[in-house]
Amino acid sequence: MTIANYAVFGHPISHSLSPRIHAAFGKQAGIALNYVAIDAPTDTFAAVLARFADAGGRGANVTLPLKQEAFRLSASASDFAQRAGAVNTLTRLDAGWRGDNTDGAGLIRDLTGRHGLDLRERRTLLLGAGGAARAAAHALLDAGIGELVIVNRSPERADALADAIGLPKRVHTRYWNDLANLGSFDLVVNATSAGVARETLHLPFALVAPRALCYDLSYGAAAFGFIAWARAAGAGKALDGLGLLVEQAAESFSIWHGTRPETDPVHDLLRAELPLLATD
Ligand code: ATR
Repeated sequence: MTIANYAVFGHPISHSLSPRIHAAFGKQAGIALNYVAIDAPTDTFAAVLARFADAGGRGANVTLPLKQEAFRLSASASDFAQRAGAVNTLTRLDAGWRGDNTDGAGLIRDLTGRHGLDLRERRTLLLGAGGAARAAAHALLDAGIGELVIVNRSPERADALADAIGLPKRVHTRYWNDLANLGSFDLVVNATSAGVARETLHLPFALVAPRALCYDLSYGAAAFGFIAWARAAGAGKALDGLGLLVEQAAESFSIWHGTRPETDPVHDLLRAELPLLATD
């Protein structure tokens, strides 16, 4: 029997690109690894993860909707994962799972490295307050954005995130119903899972400042609606999260294998297969 020593867990997970990304990185580094996708709803995740560990599992990526549960299941966690309250990378240690969160670093690498963008002082709107939003908020603030306005369908989650960040002069929350009255933003980040669920966000064009950057943390078809809205609103750049996906995977790979792979060849290969979403 082949032991899957690495895996990505999520629900749904069948369309995940992570197995292909890690296989490509492994090939590049000359490391033989077996990385598979495992479907796990939140209520059975703990049991499925325990079975994976018993069968020899050494590392796991975790995606929607399991990142906060993965944090709870971590025996220890990195500083950034603790701040985000969310884990996307699990590493098996003698003492149990060690939790990391590479989404924040992956987002900033994609924006500043691949796309050469300067994030400093950008007035930023964050849509969503789940696990993905939490990592993005901390990473963007660390990268030097200006004011951060968090808007979530359920306002109490936005307030909880703002409270956890603890920068009341820089971070504010507003109601979703108030989106038309917030002025314009230099950076709009969609961290909701609406696109993944094939739901449409109804967003005012006035949110997008001239030359603004609009970024969807999801990629492919899940980002279609947001990218189309951003283009129609006149954004200077509208990007999906494929770059983030590849960069966070590279960070996870380097935690597990001690070497950071070249991301551009893998990114470019996958981009060529996806419908064209990035605009410059
Ligand atoms: P993730 O790990 O991707 O962040 P999550 O924790 O389930 O997943 O969070 C999903 C986010 O998308 C939440 O902010 C959610 O809003 P609620 O907290 O109100 O549930 C948001 N979301 C999902 N569908 C949405 C929709 N149709 N409109 C607006 N927000 C939506």
